[in-house]
Amino acid sequence: MLRVVVCVSGGGTNLQALIDGVKNGNIRNTEITGVISNNCGAYALKRAEDAGIPSFCVSPKDYESRIDFNEALIARIEELKPDLIVLAGFLVILPERLIQLYPERIINIHPSLIPSFCGTGYYGLKVHEAALERGVKVTGATVHFVDEGTDTGRIILQKAVEVLPGDTPELLQRRVMEQAEWVILPQAVDEIAMNEMIK
Ligand code: GAR
Repeated sequence: MLRVVVCVSGGGTNLQALIDGVKNGNIRNTEITGVISNNCGAYALKRAEDAGIPSFCVSPKDYESRIDFNEALIARIEELKPDLIVLAGFLVILPERLIQLYPERIINIHPSLIPSFCGTGYYGLKVHEAALERGVKVTGATVHFVDEGTDTGRIILQKAVEVLPGDTPELLQRRVMEQAEWVILPQAVDEIAMNEMIK
């Protein structure tokens, strides 16, 4: 079984897609062993609790320095002994040491077709605002491995989504989630878990 730890910051709809995928068999050979949020009020934590998954808040507000927060985050993750870490709307810049501890073992979902609308400052609704401002007709989502750069790691899966006349950032965000994120994130985890089985 692939042991997966999911890191979240907000609503947790991608986390829910993973929970549902494990439950309905779309994600095979996988156990979500923990959910970690940097935001203690995140609805994602409630989703984890409802699913009976151990959930933890590691907030920078509870630490004197960024270094202390980073070490607490790494310690919590290591306790959960993950084979794979999934960043599902985790809006924290990862400590470099964490990335080095888990090479090609951390994946992220980004709400655009990388290399468009990605990198520093592009997260959440801002990505869709930028896409609408630029006037693209197609956008989408990307699952990629996490390396030391921002959204620069090897791409695993992408799915395109149409931009429609009259779209607002909120409407576009919802369509990208429904048609792309909630599809390719579970699919990527399933593929990694199945590959692991035949190794
Ligand atoms: C998702 O759209 C995810 O792709 C995005 O944040 C949202 C989290 O929603 N992540 C990024 O922008 C990372 N750069 P959720 O909490 O409902 O899954």
